[in-house]
Amino acid sequence: MPSSRRAKVLVVGSGGREHALCVALAASPQVGEIAFAGGENAGLEAMAERIPAEAVLDRAGAFDLVVIGPEAPLSEGLADRLRAAGLNVFGPSAAAAEVETSKAFTKAICEEAGIPTARFTVCDSEADALAALARMGAPLVVKADGLAAGKGVIIADTEAAAREAIGLCFSGTFGAAGARVVLEEKLEGPEVSLFALSDGNTVRALASARDYKRAFDGDHGPNTGGMGAISPAPGVSDAVLDEAMDTIVRPAIATLKARGIDYVGVLYAGLMLTAEGPKLIEFNARFGDPECQAILPRLTSDFYELCLATATGRLADAPLAFSPDSAVAVVVAAAGYPGPVARGEPIGGLAAIEAAGATVYHAGTRREGDEVLSNGGRVLAAVATGPDPRTKVYEALDHLDWPGGRLRTDIAS
Ligand code: AMP
Ligand code: GLY
Repeated sequence: MPSSRRAKVLVVGSGGREHALCVALAASPQVGEIAFAGGENAGLEAMAERIPAEAVLDRAGAFDLVVIGPEAPLSEGLADRLRAAGLNVFGPSAAAAEVETSKAFTKAICEEAGIPTARFTVCDSEADALAALARMGAPLVVKADGLAAGKGVIIADTEAAAREAIGLCFSGTFGAAGARVVLEEKLEGPEVSLFALSDGNTVRALASARDYKRAFDGDHGPNTGGMGAISPAPGVSDAVLDEAMDTIVRPAIATLKARGIDYVGVLYAGLMLTAEGPKLIEFNARFGDPECQAILPRLTSDFYELCLATATGRLADAPLAFSPDSAVAVVVAAAGYPGPVARGEPIGGLAAIEAAGATVYHAGTRREGDEVLSNGGRVLAAVATGPDPRTKVYEALDHLDWPGGRLRTDIAS
């Protein structure tokens, strides 16, 4: 890019993760203009032009870099189409994104690469699955193959529960995602998310995080997209993360490459730290949400440069540095989430939260006149970093003025 002109970046997606991506990109002195593609988001609209998702292919040619946030456009091949048009794209091809969209595909990669993961069997009919259950016994994890909005995983501690879960999958509860089921050995140990960057050849660890998936304090209640996160994951040594890079992340990307698939973007490895070492639970082809909101504020090097280097095969030389401080993200959801929620409730106190030293990333909000209104399940996340980020973020959130908002009080405790 000529130094006389600052870069234009398009971020695809309009949630909390994408707000964090945009804030990190905007911090680069090389970036002049940012647009995002998707629905309303009061936080994003305050800093970036919004373009409709349908207009991405038409409009992308005007941008120096396109960063794709969510899995859906990746699995639909948006990165392929943009790359075919000659654009710089941060985000894997549809073939590479299969590591997220198909658990059976990922298991095949694991087998080929010798990646440690739970013992498993793939079943295409209910009868197959029941026969496999009889062999494997409980406890057992039952997973609908394909995308099921994070709801396709059932941990069955008894055979009866496993039979019920298998029945649910094949009865169409998860749509087409349940037509094929993966039965898996239940792994025990602390969970950690490891994020790595890959330009197709060079693979580098980015950061670790822990997320809080259950709706309520004490890890009770239904699974959600994530109610909070801390980065780096506490109590996880660099040696364990290095081991996971060597035994899980690099072999996976090398095996994809051997199949002719270049992985370009961020690879999210969900790991269980078992007594026998780190084992893979799942890959995602994108940043986690809200893990992204806890990771990027710690980055001290230039995020635009890092994304561009990843998109253009120059990752090996890109500066990559983090603050040693932790960051804690606390999600504020609408009461009722992950079930049906009310929308259109005014949210006050956002300026005071920021004045208290936390950053607010908007997820499901929209602006109406002077007001910010709730507009989704997960509505925003407050993030603090520094020596005691947990205290700082909760003290800042005391300023939130939204009776309909609900948050976990035990993130990072
Ligand atoms: P997933 O949708 O694959 O991320 O799974 C959701 C959650 O289910 C994971 O974050 C784990 O907590 C749990 N889980 C998935 N697979 C296993 C497994 N094999 N053993 C134990 N827990 C699992
Ligand atoms: N927070 C979990 C995810 O983004 O998949």
